[in-house]
Amino acid sequence: MAKVAILGFGVVGSGVAEVIRRNGEHIGQKLHASVELKYILDRRDFPDSPFADLVIHDFSVIENDPEVEVVVETIGGAGAAKEFTLRALKAGKSVVTSNKELVAKHGYELMKLAQEHNVSYLYEASVGGGIPIIRPLKQCLAANEITEICGILNGTTNYILTRMIRAGLSFDAALKEAQQNGYAEADPTADVEGHDACRKICILASLAFGRHIYPEQVPTEGISGVSLADVAYADSCGRKIKLLGRAILGADGKVRAFVAPHLVSGEAPLAGVEDVFNAITVKGNAIGDVMFYGRGAGKLPTASAVVADVMDAVSRRDRPKFMDWGPGGKEVTLPPEDVKSPWYVRAKATAEALRSAVGEVTVLARAGAPEGETAVLAPAMTRGELEEKLSGIGVQTLFRVLED
Ligand code: HSE
Repeated sequence: MAKVAILGFGVVGSGVAEVIRRNGEHIGQKLHASVELKYILDRRDFPDSPFADLVIHDFSVIENDPEVEVVVETIGGAGAAKEFTLRALKAGKSVVTSNKELVAKHGYELMKLAQEHNVSYLYEASVGGGIPIIRPLKQCLAANEITEICGILNGTTNYILTRMIRAGLSFDAALKEAQQNGYAEADPTADVEGHDACRKICILASLAFGRHIYPEQVPTEGISGVSLADVAYADSCGRKIKLLGRAILGADGKVRAFVAPHLVSGEAPLAGVEDVFNAITVKGNAIGDVMFYGRGAGKLPTASAVVADVMDAVSRRDRPKFMDWGPGGKEVTLPPEDVKSPWYVRAKATAEALRSAVGEVTVLARAGAPEGETAVLAPAMTRGELEEKLSGIGVQTLFRVLED
């Protein structure tokens, strides 16, 4: 019998409680040991919940209870979540989390601490919700040198972009709809400005390349600058705008990681990833390209990954699983400025001015374009080269085009 405590009874925490209770018998059969929920820690009470009798408000009860073997941290953020995680690991309890902010900011030290105490720190649910991606990257693709990861890592922004593309909604209207549907938070900044996707690409890149890559090392641009004009120009050349998190291993051994809107060919698998779905493509030197696709957020999909980690922690109680990576450092990454790609440029300029500045361009058209606005696709070059060529031109939008 393994006893579990959940920290934070929000969307994911309550999903974890539900899955453990609903699938208890099935989990017991697979594990040859039953998993039982003993405590739920939250500041609030939940008198109408079927789990009301498990709710406590003092973490030290969990910390000091030797029966609790696994702590599920679904509080989020890097404040109380970090403190309780440190205390749980030091108390010899395995910790399972869906908290990408904590793993992206402090994963290395938490994994080290887990090793010192011979317990597991597992975080499958922190990227891609219910999509299995952490274990496949660490284990199933272990024989490869991974050279690139590229993904749609945030469901809220993918929903907003899908509604702009399919229904012609403005960014503000699509965001409002996402909030009404419960996808976007009341404060949507972390999703819309790309911070959530940044944390997730940090975790994937750290795992794939073996050194901690911190959010400060990943230039991040969200989707608040994407307009319906850009959507229309992208459509005119058979492309869709997607927010991508990318991490590329250069020949110099340095990682270039970044988050930014891209134009993606309508034929590319990532273009077909719509609404709140996520997808992650991984390039390995033996496997070639592989893609992971599924529900990247939501109560039960995310709980599914959390509970699988709980089962793993229990089944490996004497030989914990270390899903770890090495320490970070400035030398691990370089800014993505030298990554070459074709570009989409929208500017207050004539097509002639853009052509003479940038060279051979494909001029795009859209209905209702105002006088003096031109959009083009420019050939592959670095951002630095492009910006130099465009100096003196009133650029409105600059997005990379993902090469096929
Ligand atoms: N806010 C996140 C998203 C939730 O929209 O993808 C899952 O991490």
